Amino acid sequence: MLKIDKLHAFYGKSHVLHGVSMNVEQGEIVALLGRNGSGRSTTAKAIMGLVDAKGSLLWKGLQFMGKKTYEIAHLGLGYVPESRDVFPKLTVEQNLLLGQKRSGQSGRWSLDDMYTLFPRLKERQHTEAGVMSGGEQQMLTLCRTLMGDPDLVIIDEPTEGLAPKIVELVGQYLQTLKARGVSVLLIEQKLTIAMDVSDRCYVMGHGSVVFEGTPAELRQNTYIRKEWLEV
Ligand SMILES: Nc1ncnc2c1ncn2[C@@H]1O[C@H](COP(=O)(O)OP(=O)(O)OP(=O)(O)O)[C@@H](O)[C@H]1O
Ligand SMILES: [Mg+2]
Repeated sequence: MLKIDKLHAFYGKSHVLHGVSMNVEQGEIVALLGRNGSGRSTTAKAIMGLVDAKGSLLWKGLQFMGKKTYEIAHLGLGYVPESRDVFPKLTVEQNLLLGQKRSGQSGRWSLDDMYTLFPRLKERQHTEAGVMSGGEQQMLTLCRTLMGDPDLVIIDEPTEGLAPKIVELVGQYLQTLKARGVSVLLIEQKLTIAMDVSDRCYVMGHGSVVFEGTPAELRQNTYIRKEWLEV
């Protein structure tokens, strides 16, 4: 469904991605792993048209390299960046409604689905988003993106800084997406959650893909783990 080929990305003169190739199929959860600075977020930004990039980006066979971010979102790609960007002065519910697709047809997710996924959001339905905890804001960001009814969601380190209980909820959220046929490209540091939920994983190092395989294969590959993942 998403096919990235020989992707290069640049911040000014600094050449950060060196020919990244990967793919995500319908309904798959694909983990993108690697240490700090390995180029995972830049890969996400390059897909979303947020950095200067070269190479091929295919979505359902259609080339979208060079398109604008909002056009890429309209194709059906959702993006949850590292920063939790809620609208702090709006309520939880207003935030969710703002994420809704504007095409008129209703998407596959309703407000009630969001409240079932994260009951905490229902309790806080009328609370200003800005006063909620980091974990709650993270849930809200994830849900707001879903309200746009993406076919694939790119999620950058959703569990960073979250308490173990909430990490578990994020894991369930990912499973729910998969159950409804939404594909996920999951950027993570935490090997445990990524290995538990993903169908396949890629490991990046210095702006290139250094491993591709199943979680079981990665578990067995001590060399890759020592060299590129463990600190
Ligand atoms: N805005 C920027 N300007 C210049 N260089 C950047 C910028 N953002 C990232 N880089 C550099 O690009 C490289 C890849 O960074 P990237 O953010 O993609 O890494 P990452 O794998 O997401 O790791 P982490 O999120 O843990 O930092 C790093 O060397 C980083 O210093
Ligand atoms: Mg990052």
